[in-house]
Amino acid sequence: MAEYGTIGLAGLPTRVTICEVGPRDGLQNESAVLPAEVKVEFIERLVAAGHTVVESTSFVHPKWVPQLADAEEVLDRVRRVAGVRYPVLVPNERGLDRALERGVTDIAVFGSATETFAARNLNRSLDSQLEMFAPVVARARQAGLTVRTYLSMSFGDPWEGEVPIPQVVSVAGRMMALGCSELSLGDTIGVATPGRVVALLEALRAAEIPVERIAVHFHDTYGQALANTLAALSRGVTTVDASAGGLGGCPYAKSATGNLATEDLVWQLDGLGIETGIDLGKLVETSAWMAEQLGRPSPSRVVRAISGG
Ligand code: HMG
Ligand code: MG
Repeated sequence: MAEYGTIGLAGLPTRVTICEVGPRDGLQNESAVLPAEVKVEFIERLVAAGHTVVESTSFVHPKWVPQLADAEEVLDRVRRVAGVRYPVLVPNERGLDRALERGVTDIAVFGSATETFAARNLNRSLDSQLEMFAPVVARARQAGLTVRTYLSMSFGDPWEGEVPIPQVVSVAGRMMALGCSELSLGDTIGVATPGRVVALLEALRAAEIPVERIAVHFHDTYGQALANTLAALSRGVTTVDASAGGLGGCPYAKSATGNLATEDLVWQLDGLGIETGIDLGKLVETSAWMAEQLGRPSPSRVVRAISGG
């Protein structure tokens, strides 16, 4: 992108941390179950491209997400690089036990802002998901782990429609009160638009959840993920989730498609002169290689433009 120059925009951060979720959010939704060694190579190539946070797998029930049933093997085989974090999803204490046995240092619990998705994704009510997470967060913190919480359906729900902002803020506050250090706002089905993003961030600020603790997690179903990200950056967010090649989705949310593609995000941030530490060329090569493994072209516009595949 360097050959097209860089011009910044007032009011944006100078540096953004990208939380790469391809190996987890990306691969959990693929019909093909990839061998552990391919997942390991994927994670290692993402780190070689400059990623410092790579969400690597999930310690959920293997029957619920068979694509990630090899979580132990993947973590055992990845050569962990100092200074890089390899968070994993953990829904409950059984998941935490499995993660601790693997020497994990960063976990993410994942709550739902709506009743319906809590039932479909976690087999819990909105209230009982919090009861499930409470001992996980407490024990993880005691063991010195960092704990992020996702909040799915923060912008809309395929069964319930519009999700009232006060409801999202209330569940977010309850999740953070458990002791999580970061809140990732999940647009699980990609329906958000920039005005809603800004309105939610302002409501969270009014509820005294500091923007430094907030990350955004946009799926790109309706092509809004980059616009929503720019809106979030303009309000002080500096952590953005993205998935290499735009892989992704949630098997328990109808109409969830891929995440914001990391390459599309890096292209935009490079052009704005915002540092990410990521080498776009290496990342595109990685996603083109992953597209071959999956037997289909990458949905990322930037991957297709640069690699032709
Ligand atoms: P459940 O059926 O209610 O589980 O599922 P349970 O607590 O009743 O336990 C039943 C059995 O499962 C027990 O075994 C447990 O030991 C076992 P038994 O005693 O009968 O032999 N079990 C486990 N085994 C291995 N690992 C575990 C585990 N937990 C229980 N962790 C549960 C509840 C939460 C486990 C299930 O609903 C589940 O695994 N859900 C995960 C669904 C999921 O992974 N969805 C995708 C991730 S979320 C997402 O993609 C959104 C996000 O990207 C943000 C966004 O986009 O919005 C994060
Ligand atoms: Mg997601």
